[in-house]
Amino acid sequence: MKKSSSAKSKKKRGAPRPVGRKAKGEKFTPDMTVEIAGIRFKNPVLTASGTFGYGQEFAQLMDLNRLGGIVVKGISLQPMEGNPPPRIYETESGMLNAIGLQNVGAKRFLDDKLPFLRDLDTQVIVNVFGYSTEDYVRTIEILNQGEGIAAYELNISCPNTRSGGMFYGSDPKLTHEVTMASKKVARVPLIVKLSPNVTDITVFARAAENGGADALSLVNTFVGMSIDIETGKPRLSHGTGGLSGPAIKPLALRLVYQAVHAVRIPVMGIGGISSAEDALEFLIAGAKAIQIGTANFYDPRASEKVIRDLEAYCKRKRVDLNRLRGTHLGFEAAGLKRE
Ligand SMILES: Cc1cc2nc3c(=O)[nH]c(=O)nc-3n(C[C@H](O)[C@H](O)[C@H](O)COP(=O)(O)O)c2cc1C
Repeated sequence: MKKSSSAKSKKKRGAPRPVGRKAKGEKFTPDMTVEIAGIRFKNPVLTASGTFGYGQEFAQLMDLNRLGGIVVKGISLQPMEGNPPPRIYETESGMLNAIGLQNVGAKRFLDDKLPFLRDLDTQVIVNVFGYSTEDYVRTIEILNQGEGIAAYELNISCPNTRSGGMFYGSDPKLTHEVTMASKKVARVPLIVKLSPNVTDITVFARAAENGGADALSLVNTFVGMSIDIETGKPRLSHGTGGLSGPAIKPLALRLVYQAVHAVRIPVMGIGGISSAEDALEFLIAGAKAIQIGTANFYDPRASEKVIRDLEAYCKRKRVDLNRLRGTHLGFEAAGLKRE
């Protein structure tokens, strides 16, 4: 039957094979490190922006030094209070949020938050957003004065005021423009975080790459809404919100796969990851690292568990982590063309 021949070819072509450095039975310690844009991460597991505060909030709950990296809450030029409550609503297998990018602003971040973060033995990535290209540039110029930032991650899911509210992440020209302007001033590598609310992710992946991005991360949240049928009103004060969590994982995985094959720069996968199995799907699809978001809310130690279980998987398979990347099979058969 066909099934047995495909199982056979699976073994032959894609499944990670032992590295063969050590004889069977000998203790094998996998190399879990990854390098992205010249930054060395001790493992591929980072916490996602907006779901892990400024790191310090989780210090009593887990060992932050175990993490590959921390992506801090989005930082803007001026402090922001965000939207009024209710701004979070739990849905089936997910979460809708409309926090409204509440943050302490770039200057206070440098004075109050960065000193704690830079003393950690993990990579610190600062998520940056703005409402105009000048906002992004000026925020980065301020952040450039701080020591201990490994990279910037541009959140381009913001409306550009000059373009009548058009989102940076849903217009390839704006994506290109803000990436290029930010790259010009950034003192550290630039990761561009893509929005999933687009028709063709590859267009945006390439726009960011052509603008000079050193890496991509995706996805941000999917725009959604929920209505209280008793009041007839949306459950979030903002009306709509961003959907995250397990509900979006298959959607995110497909977008990450497409982006990986559209560009040469490395990609970090984000979206509904809460276990090592989830992380492995993204790594096998071609992501070089992953970020954990919503899972931090219901299990603050989720990232520690993912790191431990990933290492156990690599030990069991006797492979270094980097050998797993892109070992996917059967995409052509499933009608998914390589870009
Ligand atoms: C409450 C909340 C706040 C967020 N804030 C930010 C943010 O400030 N900047 C950003 O780029 N993404 C932000 N995100 C998006 C996450 O970083 C992540 O991309 C998204 O939630 C998908 O991953 P997940 O399904 O693992 O949560 C936020 C998500 C949530 C749930």
